[in-house]
Amino acid sequence: MCGIVGYLGEKNTKEILLDGLKELEYRGYDSAGIAVLEDGNFSNYKAIGKLVNLEEKTKNYSTKGLAAGIGHTRWATHGKPTEINAHPHLGESSYVVHNGIIENYTELKKELINSGVKFLSQTDTEVIVHQFEKNLKSSKSAFEAFSKTIDELSGAYAILLVTKSEPNTIFYAKHGSPMLVGKNSENEKYFASSDTPLIGHCTDVNYFEDGDYGYVTCDEIAIFDQQGTKKEPQFSKLSQNKLSAQKDGFRFFMEKEIYEQTSVVSDTLMGRLSDEEIIFDEIDKNLFDGINEIKLCACGTSYHAAMTASYLFERYAKIKTSLEIASEFRYREPIMTKDTLFVVISQSGETADTLETLKMAKKAGLKTLVICNVDNSSMVRLADSTILTRAGIEKGVASTKAFATQVTVFWMLTLYIAKFKNSLSTQEISRQIKLLREVPSHLKVTDEMHERIKRLSKRYLHGHGFFFIGRDVFFPLALEGALKLKEISYLHAEGYPSGEMKHGPIALADPELFTIALLPEHLHYEKSKSNVEELSARDSTICAISSKEFDKADDFIKISTCKDYMLEFFEMMIVVQILSLEISIRLGNDVDMPRNLAKSVTVE
Ligand code: G6P
Repeated sequence: MCGIVGYLGEKNTKEILLDGLKELEYRGYDSAGIAVLEDGNFSNYKAIGKLVNLEEKTKNYSTKGLAAGIGHTRWATHGKPTEINAHPHLGESSYVVHNGIIENYTELKKELINSGVKFLSQTDTEVIVHQFEKNLKSSKSAFEAFSKTIDELSGAYAILLVTKSEPNTIFYAKHGSPMLVGKNSENEKYFASSDTPLIGHCTDVNYFEDGDYGYVTCDEIAIFDQQGTKKEPQFSKLSQNKLSAQKDGFRFFMEKEIYEQTSVVSDTLMGRLSDEEIIFDEIDKNLFDGINEIKLCACGTSYHAAMTASYLFERYAKIKTSLEIASEFRYREPIMTKDTLFVVISQSGETADTLETLKMAKKAGLKTLVICNVDNSSMVRLADSTILTRAGIEKGVASTKAFATQVTVFWMLTLYIAKFKNSLSTQEISRQIKLLREVPSHLKVTDEMHERIKRLSKRYLHGHGFFFIGRDVFFPLALEGALKLKEISYLHAEGYPSGEMKHGPIALADPELFTIALLPEHLHYEKSKSNVEELSARDSTICAISSKEFDKADDFIKISTCKDYMLEFFEMMIVVQILSLEISIRLGNDVDMPRNLAKSVTVE
């Protein structure tokens, strides 16, 4: 997702900013820009696409002495990936870069427009710089104006601002989005949204806390907390290992990506929720004209997200939905009718089998939609419409945050369809939108939960197999839990519908058969519980995951009490992901690059 860098010093500011942005490339972006203030004059460059485009535009530009520069890589959320929407954004005499979302930007923008301010971009970010300049007119100093501005913003942000009214200074604020500042013996100051751009430049870094804001000059790093009280920087030594910095201190990319789910799902939701409806600016409502059926087609983890959607679509959107494994669909001579919307789901947008089914559907004249994480991928280029999941680059081969964002998009799409099909009341849609807003907080991994799973994982390193069981949407989650475990532990695991165990697999039950039981309080609890009791009576070792205590289990992992089964879904998803991770670590496997697997399978 978006990346931020900043630099105050006498070296070649352009190169430092561009090198810093390069270090953040792995997070994904669709445009980039820099603004540098030197000798009272700004130089500003922006380019869409990859950083080479920005490098090309700036090839004849360099700084000569002390300068204050800010840079940004943008992953489009509010407004399309155009040059105008790329950061930094300009006011009259200041530039700003920002990660996150300004939730009250519509109100602020309205007031500013009424007072005569002209906006150039569609972004929420642009209000920051105009609000700052408005405040500047009635403030004694740029810092006073900046403090007032920060006070007026609500939402999540990491902000850097440079202004002609206070040269050789960078103003910053952090609330909800990561940012740090670094220093070295040459009195230079570096900012970034993660460690990597600072490696090799800084020896000591201060990680800002939520609510921190202030400014840096050559001689000072001034930090104020939310109450406006000045505080001392807390410097720590910066590790000089880039790979470990990219992992943000986590042992594996997969672990980092599990923890990231809370923030990437916020990105998935960003700008798409109003109180009563879902907003997908990227799709045309007439995409659904004449559509009586949805066909979902995918591979692997994406297939499990699609299966989850098949329950939601029929239950809430009241639209007939069928589900296809792409490699099967290709060769079974399927009947395709034009009243079917063909939906492919793919993290990469490149999976060969899925891509081929999309080509088949297009050839048959069907309308097509892709749910994808990678803009400009082959599937995105081919499909009629696209909804991007905004998970950022996923490095771990075992997919985690891609799944969470896919399911989130599907839940939103369900409500989007339900609205125009009138299959749910306005109150029910509003209720579910409120629940969607709560998803990020249910995705937070607590130390207590992680520790507990880590501890009990030692009991699950052997045995003759695992069954992950669940009903309804917890069946695809069971499949996904089993897939995660297989992929990185190399232990045999299956996902099964709880009610189906008695039709065969229960014959395997003994203490060496491990059952991971998903027991949501809000969906078929009693029925699922009976299925688990049947296994417990046959001495299978049971690990139950639920918000309700369950005394027939050998191990019990408690999730929080949720308002709805979909929130339980996301909490349990975290549990099965961490369980697989910890088992794999104990077995000494390569978590991020499991044997025989590839992140993107572009062969049949
Ligand atoms: C590979 C990956 C899986 C992924 C599947 C589908 O098998 O290892 O993690 O779920 O491909 O990938 P896609 O990019 O189409 O979602």
